Amino acid sequence: MLTPPPRSHPSGATNVISALLESRTGQQIAVNREWRVETTLKPLMRAHGIQTLDELVGAVILSRDGPLAEQVVEALLNQESSFFRDAAVLDMVADATDTMRGNAGGRRLRIWSAGCSFGQEPLSLAMLFTERCEKQPGPMPEIVATDVSEAALARARTGKFSQFEIQRGLPIRRMLNWFDAVGEEWIAKPELIRHIVFRRQNLVADPMPIGRFDVVLCRNVLLYLSPALRRAIFDRLAQVVRPGGLLVLGAGETVIGQTEAFRPSGIYRGLYEPVAPPAMRTASAAA
Ligand SMILES: C[S@@+](CC[C@H](N)C(=O)[O-])C[C@H]1O[C@@H](n2cnc3c(N)ncnc32)[C@H](O)[C@@H]1O
Repeated sequence: MLTPPPRSHPSGATNVISALLESRTGQQIAVNREWRVETTLKPLMRAHGIQTLDELVGAVILSRDGPLAEQVVEALLNQESSFFRDAAVLDMVADATDTMRGNAGGRRLRIWSAGCSFGQEPLSLAMLFTERCEKQPGPMPEIVATDVSEAALARARTGKFSQFEIQRGLPIRRMLNWFDAVGEEWIAKPELIRHIVFRRQNLVADPMPIGRFDVVLCRNVLLYLSPALRRAIFDRLAQVVRPGGLLVLGAGETVIGQTEAFRPSGIYRGLYEPVAPPAMRTASAAA
């Protein structure tokens, strides 16, 4: 187990950095992780010739809304992901979309991967959907993948992964089918990437994407938000999930006790469906 090193700076600097991250992304740094802030920011500090966290805070304040603050936020975001993370859940999403495609009368389904990191989640979905569409013909779902991090999106758009990243969760058959080895890296084939539209979107600050989605995946993104902010985002997500659509959260996440805008799906265990607001329920009962 890692033992936190003794603090080498006043906690005030950590507090300012934590507040910056939270104000920009909603992400809070858990008290037991605060000691990692300085370690995480060391490469950035080195690149700018900055020695201490206090000095970094001073430079951020001086630069106001300049790129340094953005770089600090980017460096602190947790972008942990892997291909086919919680594979059983993604299989269930593929089963659900098969059923939805069957009922959609030719309409193209829309899937949103919110907080897509370097693209492992939307690429996993693109592989699954392509394989399913070969068995059950019909329009390939549109996949919209968003993240608050420009750096993560820039990498996601390239479809490049290291040997270490490609080995995490991706079966060899799919790796060889869908990726080309180029030097030390693996690059997703254009025919896979082209199914995904990558866009910047901050769940805390930006409007929701336009239109409704059949499935929204927001996995391992809202864990470190305050309960009030998480509730507000669930309420906004409920407005963009199509009636009969689904919300997918990470393995350790739930809507239960957090919002009334979603309830557990009666069909797909661990997934959630939007609850129509009372006015809409009355209107559809009368129709
Ligand atoms: C831990 S990763 C999860 C990636 C993927 N969903 C998964 O489960 O493997 C969380 C991602 O959410 C993004 N994120 C954090 N706060 C966000 C916000 N306010 N709006 C949009 N994305 C955010 C991070 O940049 C990061 O890429």
